[in-house]
Amino acid sequence: MELQEQVAIVTGAGRGIGRATALELARMGADVVVAELEGANAELTADQVRAVGRRALAVVTDVTSRKDLAAMVEQALAAFGRIDILVNNAGIYRAAVPLEITEEHWDAIMNINAKAVFFATQAVLPAMIARKRGAIVSLASMAGKVGSANNLPYNASKAAVISMTKSLALAHAADGIRVNCVCPGFVETDMWTAVSRELSAITGRSPEQFTAQRRAQVPLGRMERVEDVANVIAFLASPRADYMTGQAISIDGGLVMHG
Ligand SMILES: NC(=O)c1ccc[n+]([C@@H]2O[C@H](COP(=O)([O-])OP(=O)(O)OC[C@H]3O[C@@H](n4cnc5c(N)ncnc54)[C@H](O)[C@@H]3O)[C@@H](O)[C@H]2O)c1
Repeated sequence: MELQEQVAIVTGAGRGIGRATALELARMGADVVVAELEGANAELTADQVRAVGRRALAVVTDVTSRKDLAAMVEQALAAFGRIDILVNNAGIYRAAVPLEITEEHWDAIMNINAKAVFFATQAVLPAMIARKRGAIVSLASMAGKVGSANNLPYNASKAAVISMTKSLALAHAADGIRVNCVCPGFVETDMWTAVSRELSAITGRSPEQFTAQRRAQVPLGRMERVEDVANVIAFLASPRADYMTGQAISIDGGLVMHG
């Protein structure tokens, strides 16, 4: 119970990696604020957190709205009195070849995957600075470390998360706040269903063929599970990682071995 009496906010925790992370943090003792766009999914995750014996609060939040982010922090503090951990997990994926990327596509990806990560962090920082402690973990991706022909804005948004992680870590180290990000590979979630559907349409394969081909590229020989990611996020959020900040940790079965 390394996170006993700590309070975590997890954005996009209504399903996938976010839900698995909320549950892992709860198993380690944290109370959890589930900040999620889809209310019914947020409530389901909150119920699962309560089922492992921790307190939970579902807050319907659009991370692209600064008003929602302010309300998320206000409700977290009103319910639990402190915020120790922020996991910036909410994100979206879209594919297109560079010549077909519209301004709307660019803005949608950047607003959720990059800009909202910064403003959610900014919203939570005062509560962490006041108590001189905090751990922030954001979802980057292997896409932030490599190029991809068919999802340039997504890759750029995840590279921005890696960059912001370093700057925030430097800016707030003296406040006792650690800032890290994780870089997963091919994680089987609803987002992966979208990835395989959209990229198989561009590359002329079936989604099943696409996924099989991707799986074959993974040195550890299997697709990634949400728990593979949640375990490392929970480690980075815990005192075990007290001497780590500004890092972009790959969790990808060995796909990316540089940088
Ligand atoms: N699945 C993968 O292969 C993979 C790989 C690397 C990184 N990631 C990253 O991990 C994170 C989670 O991915 P996932 O696979 O669990 O995705 P998912 O699509 O299964 O879940 C994303 C969650 O975020 C929520 N969300 C979306 N927009 C939101 C908004 N504006 N405000 C609040 N919540 C919002 C969704 O409702 C959903 O519950 C994302 O940042 C993603 O880019 C995923």
